[in-house]
Amino acid sequence: MQKKWWHGKTAYQIYPKSFFDTNGDGIGDLRGVISKLDYLQELGIEIVWLSPVYCSPLADQGYDISDYYDIDPRFGTMADMEELISEGRKRGISIVMDLVVNHCSDEHVWFQKACADPDGPYGQYFYIRDWHEGERLPCNWRSYFGGPVWDLLPGHTDKVYFHAFHKKQPDLNWENPLLRREIYRMINWWLDKGLGGFRIDAIINIKKLLPFCDLPADRDDGLCSIKTMLARTDGVNVFLREMAEETFHRYDAFSVGEVFNEKTEDLPLIIGDDGYFSSMFDFSEHLIGMDARGWYAWTQPTAEEYKRAAFTAQKRSAGVGFFSNIIENHDEPRGVSHYLPQGERSEAAKKMIGGLNFMLRGLPFLYQGQEIGMENMDRWELSQFDDINTLDEYKVALRAGLSHEEAIAAISPYSRDNARTPFQWDGTENAGFTTGIPWLPVNPNYRTVNLLQQRGRDDSVYEFYRSLISLRKNAAYAETVVYGETEPYCCGQRNLMAYFRRGERCLLVAGNFQKEVQDMPMPGPMKKLLLNNMDKLELKEKALRLEGWQFVVMEI
Ligand code: GLC
Ligand code: CA
Repeated sequence: MQKKWWHGKTAYQIYPKSFFDTNGDGIGDLRGVISKLDYLQELGIEIVWLSPVYCSPLADQGYDISDYYDIDPRFGTMADMEELISEGRKRGISIVMDLVVNHCSDEHVWFQKACADPDGPYGQYFYIRDWHEGERLPCNWRSYFGGPVWDLLPGHTDKVYFHAFHKKQPDLNWENPLLRREIYRMINWWLDKGLGGFRIDAIINIKKLLPFCDLPADRDDGLCSIKTMLARTDGVNVFLREMAEETFHRYDAFSVGEVFNEKTEDLPLIIGDDGYFSSMFDFSEHLIGMDARGWYAWTQPTAEEYKRAAFTAQKRSAGVGFFSNIIENHDEPRGVSHYLPQGERSEAAKKMIGGLNFMLRGLPFLYQGQEIGMENMDRWELSQFDDINTLDEYKVALRAGLSHEEAIAAISPYSRDNARTPFQWDGTENAGFTTGIPWLPVNPNYRTVNLLQQRGRDDSVYEFYRSLISLRKNAAYAETVVYGETEPYCCGQRNLMAYFRRGERCLLVAGNFQKEVQDMPMPGPMKKLLLNNMDKLELKEKALRLEGWQFVVMEI
């Protein structure tokens, strides 16, 4: 495997709307990000992925872009963005933006021109089909946010357009070479500004199964999941190869794909030495417990499932490339709430789940607030939710026969709002995020869970993440932590997740994924203890006694 400039780094995702607000309007902004660059540097971060800050009606919080060449005034100005890139560079931090090109906003000028003249050139930028009242739609696929993927084209009664996500997110027609050229031009325009690269949103969806056709319905709404379509379509590789060659590869830019449902045999094409992307997120732990019927039917992952998913992913990527490893992002619940049982979210347990993930082979991505152990927020009223996906899943749950209370209780743990509550900087009002009214309420636990309370406290979650990151950069261990092979250890021992990282040195990473004590046989003498989330270490001759939720990294 070729070595790349970004391999040894640690990345961090910022959800700008909820990071830090500098002008009191309750919305985080780019000046807020700039003002926290020193903080990110102190933590050890070298790549920052910014969720979208382009002009947008924010129907899907910026994942609906109305102008790719400008910054939404709520987030700041282009001058702020340029300053962020250059201030980042001074601190050794590359800024990566979100590239949302499966769709744009219905307020983008391309779509407006397409509505005004569907037969003109911009009509070809989208998927528009004739349709008359009473007829079947061009296909029966279900949009990710509910309902059919087709809606009436604004201003017309005899035409529909395709949207895989919300109806304010019309899909772009990648079959059209003119559209593709526009996209590449835009990507290079940003890379010319000195951007480090992109996180590529929902990219697997750009290739549709054409001509549109009905597929077997999988719910009683008569519709079929888009995932079925993706499994039957081919050819996304052609678009992705072209995009990489026309853009990222010319700049040696970093790119990380939001790739779901990829075909295993395609992995080398995606993240191999000459892959289209530098890396892609490993979502296999996140996929545990999902159910096609809807969120109401999802279940929490167990320790054994987590371990199996992680090891399978490590095996898949071994010798191929780097997955990007996460326990959470802006679409997922907080990792500590999702992977740890209720009542067990102590600082020690939070460090364990973070450490087990961080030490895997690949590129670690932290999501804002993860480094202080931010948690899901309890909600019990529909009005407390903002996320369009959650509002749809509430309806799905009701249709399945759940009562209002049951539906809220079932969907709340998976709501995307959990990860989107403002960053908890300190214990003052609104957690120090804003002097105004936050756009989404702060998690009430901010008085105990906040950065100020943890910074400089040796046994805090925050200081633990700093140690993880510095181990990754430590001259003696970096080669092993970054490139060492992952080899599961004692895999059959229940609720123990342990693995070797074998490179120039040999590290043993172990986490006791339960509240009860358990002994792990020692594979050999310990040379050095590198990390421990507890004060004590009970090393017997042939076994290590692990306290509940204990996590250690040792050289052996
Ligand atoms: C990705 C984003 C998500 C967004 C969707 C549509 O999954 O991460 O937040 O809603 O794409 O752009
Ligand atoms: Ca603001």
